[in-house]
Formats: sequence, C-alpha cells, structure tokens
Amino acid sequence: MSLSSLHIKNLRNLAEVRIEPASRLNIIHGANASGKTSLLEAIYLLGRAKSFRSSHLHIIEGPGKSGFMVFGQVTGELGIPQPLGVHYEGGKIHMRAAGQALTQTAELVKRLPLLLITPDSHKILTLGPRQRRRFIDWGVFHVEHDFILAYRRYCRALRQRNASLRTPSRFVPSEIWDNELYETAAQIDGFRRDYLQQFLPLLIHFVKKLLPADWDVSLRYLPGWAQDMTFREALTRSLERDRLLGYTHKGPHRADVVIEAAGKPVQEHASGGQQKLLMCALYLAQAALFKARTQRQCIILLDDLPAELDAEHRCKLMELLCEIGVQIIVTTTDKNLLRIPEGAEAKLFHVEHGVIMEQGST
Ligand SMILES: Nc1ncnc2c1ncn2[C@@H]1O[C@H](COP(=O)(O)OP(=O)(O)O)[C@@H](O)[C@H]1O
Ligand SMILES: [Mg+2]
Repeated sequence: MSLSSLHIKNLRNLAEVRIEPASRLNIIHGANASGKTSLLEAIYLLGRAKSFRSSHLHIIEGPGKSGFMVFGQVTGELGIPQPLGVHYEGGKIHMRAAGQALTQTAELVKRLPLLLITPDSHKILTLGPRQRRRFIDWGVFHVEHDFILAYRRYCRALRQRNASLRTPSRFVPSEIWDNELYETAAQIDGFRRDYLQQFLPLLIHFVKKLLPADWDVSLRYLPGWAQDMTFREALTRSLERDRLLGYTHKGPHRADVVIEAAGKPVQEHASGGQQKLLMCALYLAQAALFKARTQRQCIILLDDLPAELDAEHRCKLMELLCEIGVQIIVTTTDKNLLRIPEGAEAKLFHVEHGVIMEQGST
C-alpha cells in the first residue's frame, strides 16, 4: 500500500501542491521554513484527520483562512487506487473515501495506516505512559479488528462510572457498567498482551541492528492495575479513592509499557543518540509487525530525523527502512545526508517557499 498521488490546497504555506510519490523511498529536501513539515502534516491529516503540530485546525489554514484540503490516491496491494480526502471548512473537518462521506476517523485511519517519526519521537521513552499506550494501541488497532469495539465500550462505561463518581452523594456501584468494564478491560488487556508478545522479537531484531551488541532490550507491560489481583478486585479496592477524587484510577486506560535495556529503564543509561535509535527500532518493529499480520504496508513519515544521527547510523537506518518494504517519506534540509540504498526505488523532491518540485528518481 502506498500513497500514489497527493493534492494539497491552502495548508500553511502550501498554496497548491500536486505530487506523485514513489511507492518506496521519497526524499523531500529544502531550506528551513520551506514547507517540509507542512507536507508531512498534510499527509498525516489525510490519515488521521488531525495534525501532529496544532490541536486547532484553523491555525493550519493558509492565507485567506478559507479552509484547506488534502486529497490522495491510496494504491493497495492489488494495484487499484482508492481516493481519500479531507477538507476543512467552516471550522469542521470532513472526510471522504471512494466518494462516500466518512463519519468515523477510525475508517480513515484504517485506509491510510501511517507511522510518524519526528525529532521529538524519542520522548516516547521518557514521557508519561500515554504516548507509549498510544503507540502500542496503534498496532493493536490495525491487527485486531475487535479492539476498537472493545475500546469504545470500555470508554463509554468508564465515562458513566466517572460521571457517577463525581456526584458522590448519588453514587451507587452499578453492576451494569462495572460488568461492562470487566468484560471489555479483559479484552483490551488480552489484545495488548498478544500484540506485545509478537512485537518483542521484532524489536529485539531491530535493536541488534542499530544498537550495541550488549543491549538486551525488554518490555515490561503494566496493565493499569496491580498484577497480583484481578481488575474486579482492583476496582473494588480503589472505590474509596475513586469516590474521593471523582474518577476511576485503575484500568486499561492507565496501562503502560516500560522499555528497558539490561533490566534498567533506558532513560537512566542510554545516550540521546541511543534513545533515538531505540525509538527507530520501535517504529521499525511496528511497521514490520503490521506487514506480517495484515499483509498490507504502512507508510512511514520521517521529519528531519537524519540530521540527528551520525553517518553510519543514518545509512543503517535507511537500509532497514528500505528492507522492510514500506513507503517512506523523509524530509531533510540537506539531501547529501541521506544515501539511497542500492537498488531502492526512490524519488527526490525539492521544496522552496511552499512549492514542491520532483527532481528525479532512481
Ligand atoms: N497557517 C499558516 N499559513 C501560512 N503559512 C504558515 C502557516 N503556518 C505556518 N506557516 C509558515 O509555513 C512555513 C513552512 O513551515 P514548515 O513546514 O514548518 O517548514 P520546514 O519544515 O520546511 O522548516 C513557515 O515559513 C511558517 O511560518
Ligand atoms: Mg520542519
């Protein structure tokens, strides 16, 4: 699967862009503030209906504030292009696929599976659990069709329980939503455990390629409640605290995956560069597992990463990215920083003041 054509209108400094990316490697180069990250932002919007830079979409509108539009053709494994589009107008985002309006973002996400790596992505290792949970859930969502259903049911029951906890005088533990919570929590937990079991060997594989030989990477999954009790027991025990503070403290919405090397959290002993390489290994493993489980490919967007790695690791990373056989769209200020691996099908694009020109292919 790849994005075979892209049309952007009025998004930040990109007045009108039309490009046909290669199905494998695409290098986008240009000076600072030329529009490279905006291009990746547009693709991200096409696959997620949100930005990774601004929580308010009106900030993204180009001059005139008359909305923006991103349209693409996604060519699947059978070689048939499927149109996909988002447009933002009057403060609302609208999504379409193959001529039909979509009402749920999950439908868009399924059609254009994207992984995004930015210069900040290594913070996944050091920030709170939310980013790691999101990362794992991206993978689980794409390989387990029932995950989204269980997740939505869980969130609904959790909202009901929390609303009730916030009015303590009227709180009555409800069998109905507690049972719904137990059932869906068990499903979510099971999906995540299965996923991580398949994910770990791939992570170890990529860590071996990118990091020193003695890097013994492991994952410690924390389901969101103490592991020596069931979720039912954990909820019962935390009831008093939940009532006091007005929300549910335990459950899959508090899960985490701690990433360790040689039994210690990585942030305690890994250098900045090593943290970046480990983060890359996480994304490579996720792309490889996505491909193995779905027989489809995801698209990897890399923003400005190369400048932060030394030449040897940049080379290795490019080779590994090309080896897994996915579409890659990578931006850089200096195209000489990126060596196109031998035999890789690649296109080079130059960005200047929001104008993107194809400069050749291999
Ligand atoms: N809403 C907007 N409308 C027009 N231009 C914008 C808007 N938001 C940001 N820009 C400008 O778009 C340019 C491109 O930004 P960006 O894509 O981040 O550049 P790069 O990644 O190439 O360094 C910048 O000059 C920025 O100031
Ligand atoms: Mg940028």
